[in-house]
Amino acid sequence: MSTIKRQLPHPSELFEQVSLKKPEFNPTTRRLAAALTIEDLRKIAKRRTPRAAFDYTDGAADDEISMDRSRQAFSDIEFHPSILRDVSHVDTSTTIFGGPSALPFGIAPTGFTRLMQTEGEVAGAGAAGAAGIPFSLSTLGTTSIEAVKDANPGGRNWFQLYVMKDRSISYALVQRAAAAGFDTLFFTVDAPVAGARLRDKRNGFSIPPVLTLPTVLNAIPRPAWWINFLTTPKLEFASLSSTGGTVGELLDNAMDPSISFDDLDEIRALWPGKLVVKGVQNVEDAKRLIDLGVDGLVLSNHGGRQLDRAPVPFRLLPEVVREVGRDAEIAIDTGIMNGADIVASIAMGAKFTLIGRAYLYGLMAGGRAGVDRAIEILAEQIVRTMKLLQVSSLDELGPQHVTQLDRLVPSASARGLSIG
Ligand SMILES: Cc1cc2nc3c(=O)[nH]c(=O)nc-3n(C[C@H](O)[C@H](O)[C@H](O)COP(=O)(O)O)c2cc1C
Repeated sequence: MSTIKRQLPHPSELFEQVSLKKPEFNPTTRRLAAALTIEDLRKIAKRRTPRAAFDYTDGAADDEISMDRSRQAFSDIEFHPSILRDVSHVDTSTTIFGGPSALPFGIAPTGFTRLMQTEGEVAGAGAAGAAGIPFSLSTLGTTSIEAVKDANPGGRNWFQLYVMKDRSISYALVQRAAAAGFDTLFFTVDAPVAGARLRDKRNGFSIPPVLTLPTVLNAIPRPAWWINFLTTPKLEFASLSSTGGTVGELLDNAMDPSISFDDLDEIRALWPGKLVVKGVQNVEDAKRLIDLGVDGLVLSNHGGRQLDRAPVPFRLLPEVVREVGRDAEIAIDTGIMNGADIVASIAMGAKFTLIGRAYLYGLMAGGRAGVDRAIEILAEQIVRTMKLLQVSSLDELGPQHVTQLDRLVPSASARGLSIG
């Protein structure tokens, strides 16, 4: 029986203890403020973006196993906090590829970005600049090199190179990016041909987008996207002419599958800044590239969009760090959905990380404000995780803070095998 003493309610006490929240009339602001995680932004993005565009972003190759495993690998860790350290101030800044970044992540290069939401790369570059982190523009971008520079005039811009069959087109882009003051070149090496993006095929998704009856029906509940699409400059590649077809078919037609280690010198000679190879997937190649003098590596399986069941970068990381040493600048991407994933990557020896979809979910959820929110969510998660681990700078993070757990696999008997 409760012994607490009851009293009549006093209206004055109610007002003292409960305050009314000011209503937020801007629906985008309201929506974004309610999103507490990148997954929340993803759900908003899905509601607001036509299916073909959302699936192009959200999807991966074949059975999407690489993407799922890469996300799972971040869930399958155990953090090991220290105690009784002063964490009243936490410094999330770092240096990477010869310059500063306020946070240990940057925006990954993504193709056809204005498809997701019309502000596209301008929103990404502007938000990155405001947050003090680098922005990467893809060869398959939908905003020109110079317009990205205008959107992020004082910040760091990086250019991603796909070497196309007509190499003069690719190399002219590299020279334009250098002239515009981009400081780092990502040479992507995991896409001699496109991965099998089955969602795009099933959705009949093509570039330029074509209207079919299902597309039109799917558009009806997503008017904002369509209004944006129809009332802003034409959606097209900023630096390539498109021949029609899926992004995969376009990649297959454009990319040079004969590119090899021998071409590194030629690219190096064109580029005055840092040269970083993106899409490294084994220790031998990592060692060879460092020996050849590249300035950095990105361990990546391209967000699971190329070879399905390719290695999970976060799992490959410790071995590469051990073999090439902590002096080489190694970044990783694929599967990052939480600032804690970024902290875990740094603890396991990555110098930096890149976010692809996490940024694009924000973009689809609310244009520039959505990208700002995605960066803010990740930044808050990074700071909170560092404080809870009781480290006050990224340098203090080490493998002692993280264990990569192995998933439980069914025992031989559960798989129906007879045990001798
Ligand atoms: C929609 C989309 C387009 C992409 N386009 C490119 C590209 O043009 N060039 C490139 O090097 N990587 C591209 N990527 C891969 C990203 O740079 C990055 O490696 C990947 O998104 C990281 O995985 P995450 O999405 O799980 O963060 C793309 C990724 C997505 C999701």
